[in-house]
Amino acid sequence: MEERIITNERLDEDNFEQNLRPEHLDDYIGQSEAKENLKIFIKAALMREESLDHVLLYGPPGLGKTTLSYIIANELGTHIKTASGPAIEKSGDLAAILSSLEPGDVLFVDEIHRIPRFIEEILYSAMEDFTLDIIVGNDSNSRNIRIDLPPFTLVGATTRAGDLTGPLRDRFGIISKLNYYTVEELTNIVKRTSRVLNVVIEEEAAIELAKRSRGTPRIANRLFKRVRDYALVMGNGVIDLGITTLALNRLKVDSEGLDDTDYHLLKSIIEKFNGGPVGIEAIASSIGEEQTTIEDVYEPYLLQHGFLKRTSRGRMVTRKAYEHLGITCPDKIE
Ligand SMILES: Nc1ncnc2c1ncn2[C@@H]1O[C@H](COP(=O)(O)OP(=O)(O)O)[C@@H](O)[C@H]1O
Ligand SMILES: [Mg+2]
Repeated sequence: MEERIITNERLDEDNFEQNLRPEHLDDYIGQSEAKENLKIFIKAALMREESLDHVLLYGPPGLGKTTLSYIIANELGTHIKTASGPAIEKSGDLAAILSSLEPGDVLFVDEIHRIPRFIEEILYSAMEDFTLDIIVGNDSNSRNIRIDLPPFTLVGATTRAGDLTGPLRDRFGIISKLNYYTVEELTNIVKRTSRVLNVVIEEEAAIELAKRSRGTPRIANRLFKRVRDYALVMGNGVIDLGITTLALNRLKVDSEGLDDTDYHLLKSIIEKFNGGPVGIEAIASSIGEEQTTIEDVYEPYLLQHGFLKRTSRGRMVTRKAYEHLGITCPDKIE
């Protein structure tokens, strides 16, 4: 399948995200619940001169988990070390990262649900007692050694909190769910991006862009970049509503933020499975996609916005989706 412009997975061009990342909690738009709580916990940790409790951030890709992790370290005035669950393959990998931490540092572990189980067990004592228990030597001559670690804060990010084991989950004192952004919040993010990139965008254009970004800042920023190109080449560089609509239509991102992939998915369920209910495995094989990609990336927005419904017997396309696609809806469908 060709690359989706509205994918919320990271693409290479997202390196420009680096400059767009807010650095302080006050510049982090939306997610007020997570933000207000973190503000208090960070302040309390600083007043007590202790490390912040471990933090678990979860939610769909592109909503600002990595950004928030960097902000946490910044607000704590400490360093951040980063790792990714699937990249930690040996206990030595984890030991190396942990022993490089200084007191109060943040260790950010992305995709923490993909950490191998035997590594996870080493993490338990590191998180709980700030000790590292490892076995050194070979089979005939091995011994356990215990290394004291400085107090640190583990910030874990995951798109699938449900895949975390109970014991790991229980070791996070602060658990925050990030939600899709409202159009108003996304409009503010788009305006912030326009200031950072020094490109003028008109109010209605910012709102239109926000509406089509499926609640996701990463997508809003990516669409912004494309629309900016259209404005430069076809207009005078200023992003107005006309240019925005033209560009987004050409990019095949519709008024609800749905693209070809969404159409393909919804139409497959309608045409091949009479609108459902149908199991996720059958959907996956019918559109040739990984089940987890559908569950983590495509489906959450469709569910949240009422184009798709999850029932005990499988996924069902809703009346709203039929109407949006311009397909006559059978009476039995709600
Ligand atoms: N609350 C926010 N305010 C402003 N920009 C944001 C916010 N959340 C995310 N972004 C932007 O979206 C991009 C993607 O966020 P990121 O933290 O990488 O998402 P995640 O780690 O959840 O996949 C960031 O580079 C940043 O520019
Ligand atoms: Mg991330």
